[in-house]
Amino acid sequence: MKSILEGRTALRAEVEKTAEVAGYLWQNGWAERNGGNITVNVTHLVDNDIRQLPAISEQRPIGITLPALRGCYFYCKGTGKRMRDLARQPMENGSIIRIQEDCASYVIIADQPVLPTSELPSHLAVHARLIESGSPYKATVHTHPIELVAMSHHRPFLGKDVLTNILWSMIPETKAFCPLGLGIVPYALPGSNALAESTLRELEDYDVVLWEKHGVFAKGLDAMDAFDQIDVLSKSAKIYLSAKAMGFVPEGMTEAQMKEMTAAFHLPR
Ligand code: 13P
Ligand code: ZN
Repeated sequence: MKSILEGRTALRAEVEKTAEVAGYLWQNGWAERNGGNITVNVTHLVDNDIRQLPAISEQRPIGITLPALRGCYFYCKGTGKRMRDLARQPMENGSIIRIQEDCASYVIIADQPVLPTSELPSHLAVHARLIESGSPYKATVHTHPIELVAMSHHRPFLGKDVLTNILWSMIPETKAFCPLGLGIVPYALPGSNALAESTLRELEDYDVVLWEKHGVFAKGLDAMDAFDQIDVLSKSAKIYLSAKAMGFVPEGMTEAQMKEMTAAFHLPR
């Protein structure tokens, strides 16, 4: 069977980059079984021939209406599919969907009728907001990083910017490369509209949010950019936990050292 990626260099490169990230999620131990999902807005990479392609699935509801997404195209991880499989075979463990005229449903157009992730409401709600706000961001990534999820089980860490400040102070690069910090989304049922709504709200102020007792959700220019922000936060979480395992609470960089970073790297705060 001919893949939609054949002869389309830019679309292929985007899907292959996403597959590379899926491999990193698995290698990091963040993607047990089908854990995590990635969606990428590929509308700008879609040509007229793709626009003419017939649906290969029924029309399916998103669960919410998102006018900004009319006629948009997304590459989505398939629900129940494994990141480690997607890394090798992205078009067998994911698919490309087209948002319908009603802005409340989608069809699958390629390569196979692989149903998109159960977290589609969260992903698409965020993509709609990114389009509305003129953002250059095209990708959203949800994954289950062990140390960050562990930290979300400790109530005192869930106050606004408590974890942001702890994680920023573990190593200077975290503040430089995740300059907005880590937002907190209270526990909500996976795949629910409630989770989508609170994720959307919290991502107004952050690029990465922690889903209490579940995982993280990040937005970025592409899947690699979203992954990098999660990766630096996860590195800080590991340093914190290593120090605790050695029997002490890590000192963290001082306020003055953090301020010096803000000035030197022209950071927002
Ligand atoms: P999917 O397999 O439907 O993408 O779900 C994985 C997950 O992590 C849900 O939160
Ligand atoms: Zn999950």
